[in-house]
Amino acid sequence: MMKSVSEATRPLGVPTLVSLNTIMIDGTGMCGGCRVQVGAETKYVCVDGPEFDGHLVDFDGMMRRQAMYEEEEARSLERYRCARRRARPGGGRGPRGGGALGSRAETRARD
Ligand code: FES
Repeated sequence: MMKSVSEATRPLGVPTLVSLNTIMIDGTGMCGGCRVQVGAETKYVCVDGPEFDGHLVDFDGMMRRQAMYEEEEARSLERYRCARRRARPGGGRGPRGGGALGSRAETRARD
């Protein structure tokens, strides 16, 4: 969206400040996880931003970097969901995560 707004305001010459939300790891400017190209300079969102001139931000490069860990994020989310299912009464069996007794107990608790 910020890319689109910046592209819409660029031909009109409207100054456009964008706030970037990149991957951040240490938040100290040391790891480079939040690195983004702004004009001719490399910036770190955590220490140099998060606001930048939207007309200078390399949004395409930033979005490529954002997608770098999609597979790992999906695997991590699946592991998290599995752990949540196992932690439910009944050990994650059944549509609500419980066995027959667990499901009834959960139904009563909800009602
Ligand atoms: S989060 Fe590590 S350099 Fe910004």
